[in-house]
Amino acid sequence: MIDNCLRGHPYDWIQERPWEVGGDMANLSIKIGKLKLKNPVMAASGTFGYAEEFKDFIDLKKLGAIVTKTITLKPRKGNPAPRTCETSAGMLNSIGLENPGVSSFIRDKLPHLAKLGNPVIVSIASEGDPQEFVTLAKRLDKIKEVAAIELNISCPNIKGTSTLISQDANAAYDLVKSVRKVTNKTLITKLSPNVTDIAEIALAAESAGSDAISLINTLTGMSIDINKREPKIACITGGLSGPAIRPVAVRMVWQAYQKVKIPIIGMGGIVDTQSALEFFIAGATAVAIGTANFINPGVSIEIIEGIKKYLIKNKINNLDDLIGSLNV
Ligand SMILES: Cc1cc2nc3c(=O)[nH]c(=O)nc-3n(C[C@H](O)[C@H](O)[C@H](O)COP(=O)(O)O)c2cc1C
Repeated sequence: MIDNCLRGHPYDWIQERPWEVGGDMANLSIKIGKLKLKNPVMAASGTFGYAEEFKDFIDLKKLGAIVTKTITLKPRKGNPAPRTCETSAGMLNSIGLENPGVSSFIRDKLPHLAKLGNPVIVSIASEGDPQEFVTLAKRLDKIKEVAAIELNISCPNIKGTSTLISQDANAAYDLVKSVRKVTNKTLITKLSPNVTDIAEIALAAESAGSDAISLINTLTGMSIDINKREPKIACITGGLSGPAIRPVAVRMVWQAYQKVKIPIIGMGGIVDTQSALEFFIAGATAVAIGTANFINPGVSIEIIEGIKKYLIKNKINNLDDLIGSLNV
């Protein structure tokens, strides 16, 4: 398996036949651009490190894909502490894209990730200049262990960027178009929920050549320590994630699904099978698990098993038949 991953096409080993469970069949395999996944559950960027941190807790090979922490051209220290705090049914974070930079990522992190055999989706961002996305994509395009590139145009925690690229349809279009020119890898664009019309931005990404969209990144929020009368995190505002944002995320997946034909990777507050299923029914082709990994590192594997059981129980042979099956 590892041999195939390193020498041949990295995903030759993926089983395309349906999973067999107790004699019943449930086909969980999906396609995102050129990427074939054995199941639709992936680890969300920034909540799974570079997977190494989780290897002692779960069988990483069972995941559909792993999305890396967002990397930038140069190493970043991230924002000052405190960078996280708990909120009702969620958390705020202002990590500020701490990462070792692309060269160190390729040298020190990617070989370990590639050995796992899961498709590796590399999340990238710029520190201000959109051209950095292009430079990063060009570099990753040459690396066969990189299965896909996710454009994080929606991080709310970078100083000096008051408007995100994903808050402006024209800027999103231009950025995706310029990256599309330099790579044939599957391109996923990650969108921000901090917008008026998510479908407009999703359409812009699709028409510029994105193979898929990921949504949602975190919602901008703020939490105050009333005794100190200070913000609970040093950067004052941060990104809200966890179950508190799930209804917003499901709504946005559903709205985007009405407008775009490309696959949607849904995320935001998924903590169990039921919450994951909401996303598929709303129109997501795959889901990513974020904050819940901090509470239960095995949650993604439980969700894969849970989806399988749900499909079998409801006599749905293919996950495809569940996607967008919302009755209104
Ligand atoms: C601590 C933390 C760090 C994150 N870092 C990133 C990141 O580097 N890149 C990114 O695209 N999203 C990042 N996210 C956003 C998640 O990938 C996800 O979109 C969001 O948290 C919603 O999903 P959840 O409610 O399941 O966590 C981060 C989220 C958290 C909680």
